[in-house]
Amino acid sequence: MCGIVGYVGSRGSIEVLMGGLKRLEYRGYDSAGVAVLDGHGGIDTRKHAGKLGILSDDLAATPLHEGTTGIGHTRWATHGGPTDENAHPHLGDEGRLALIHNGIIENFGELKAELLERGHSFSSETDSEVAALLVGEAYRETGELTAAMLQVVNRLEGAFTLLAVHADQPDVVVGARRNSPLVIGLGEGENFLGSDVAAFVAYTRSAMEIGQDQLVTIRPDSVEVIGFDGQPVEAKTFEVNWDASAAEKGGWPSFMAKEISEEPEAVAKTILGRVDDSGLVRIPELDGLDEATLRDIDRVVVIACGTAAYAGMVGKYAIEQWARVPVDVELAHEFRYREPVLSERTLVVSISQSGETMDTLMAVKYAREQGARTLSICNTQGATIPRESDAVVYTHAGPEVAVASTKAFVAQITAMYLFGLQLGQVRGTLDEGRARGLVRELQAVPEQLASVLSSGERIRELAKWMADTQSVLFLGRHVGYPVALEGALKLKELAYIHAEGFAAGELKHGPIALIEPGQIVFVIVPSPRDPNSLHAKVVSNIQEIRARGARVIAIAEAGDAAVLPYADEVIRIPLASPFFEPLLAVVPLHIFGMELAAAKGLDVDQPRNLAKSVTVE
Ligand code: M6R
Repeated sequence: MCGIVGYVGSRGSIEVLMGGLKRLEYRGYDSAGVAVLDGHGGIDTRKHAGKLGILSDDLAATPLHEGTTGIGHTRWATHGGPTDENAHPHLGDEGRLALIHNGIIENFGELKAELLERGHSFSSETDSEVAALLVGEAYRETGELTAAMLQVVNRLEGAFTLLAVHADQPDVVVGARRNSPLVIGLGEGENFLGSDVAAFVAYTRSAMEIGQDQLVTIRPDSVEVIGFDGQPVEAKTFEVNWDASAAEKGGWPSFMAKEISEEPEAVAKTILGRVDDSGLVRIPELDGLDEATLRDIDRVVVIACGTAAYAGMVGKYAIEQWARVPVDVELAHEFRYREPVLSERTLVVSISQSGETMDTLMAVKYAREQGARTLSICNTQGATIPRESDAVVYTHAGPEVAVASTKAFVAQITAMYLFGLQLGQVRGTLDEGRARGLVRELQAVPEQLASVLSSGERIRELAKWMADTQSVLFLGRHVGYPVALEGALKLKELAYIHAEGFAAGELKHGPIALIEPGQIVFVIVPSPRDPNSLHAKVVSNIQEIRARGARVIAIAEAGDAAVLPYADEVIRIPLASPFFEPLLAVVPLHIFGMELAAAKGLDVDQPRNLAKSVTVE
């Protein structure tokens, strides 16, 4: 959940660290801190509770000694509240060593007891300080930071990324990872470490993966990776396919506003290169799962959390229809604890924007251990989940910085559709003519999305008027149901108001009791051309809630006149076949959540208590 950056080279490290932390702040913003080797044989640290801006202002007012080696951290609190003392870095070896940590050290209690017995005292309530003191002790013994870190990581249980610097080794940063993210940035005469590539993309797009249970030592001119067993490791390099400007606001009032505006591009780029000359889907990356495997699978299980899980639910409808294979969608954190029945004919598809969500990662590992095949749908290069999977289909939404996921959601649905189409083609359940037609419709979505965005004024006005609203309900059916869930989640996480999404068919089984005069209800209305005749049923639902005083905002396709007599407001989306409606219908809900939160004066990019990447269970 925390953001981590390390630098060694010839630039002023404060600038590199603070720039990296700014781009990583979405990972956690309870407190922030830096440690730099001051070039005179000492370590300078500064840390503060609160957002990065507080640290940044303090550094501007009272600068640290400028050095060219350092580490920086932005925190999402786990052990110990968000205070100055609990902020990272933590010190060891009597202040000669500084260490930052992302993750949870599960056996910290027993290690702390040992340290106390040996006479150490603690200045924070964190598990991380235990690691700092242990590496400090080990340094005393070994006189070398890599050896000291290696000795300690083998004693730690849980999940961690650790970075450390020592005053005696001015040109060295050592990092270690287990079940927590870390990537290496490769420069000329300088090297970087970061929780993700955003930490260093302003300086280099050349990156190197570091695997589980591996340790890296960076110096200005070298990068050495070894396993926790001390053996050298051949690490894989890759080029980051976006530049720093993609992670800048670029004149938008918030990252979220920018990212919503990029939804058409996210869909278009995810389709790009995955349709062959004959107009059929061919995802080159699926080669990791050959056609025989795809033909042979008898079940798909989608695992994901939050918005990514809703994308999975949308995908379920499409895959079942096109590929005629049963699909279950499960929240990743519930999945492995109920000992699910899996076999080598089960394909487990994980969906994750960050590729680092701990619950999803653990579920993927569990699935592999049980012999299932694994496919990852992921937006972040170099992330852990794709590396733990048999194959990966990257979404090409570009970096998503706002904590609330928007463009990644439409890209994830697109990737699920592409996968469903290819699966249907391979399994012979989707004839080529129909597949080509669906591909053409999917290719038209980016333009349709652009038109939804350009007519977003009404939804903005509604959001502003509703700034004092206490509760909003969302109803949908079929693929509109996950869209309703997504609309509600956005409102909860951004505007902190009670919001719930329901399957419209469930109304009379309980939720209709919530309807009282003035209750706002968004209804995602299926197309009147829907083959399952769900349109008429949802229009009846609208009448039922209107009769009980609800204020209905219908999201309905252009020309659908049946909703007009019953809805208080109608937000129009372009005509699309049922499967592609979610991609269009969700945009007004993303705008609504963002605008309502902004109207309440809230920070839409960094909602309270949240972090972008949930790297602890
Ligand atoms: O990085 P992931 O896609 O694995 O993240 C999953 C959820 O944590 C994420 O979608 C979360 O629900 C967002 N805050 C929703 O906007």
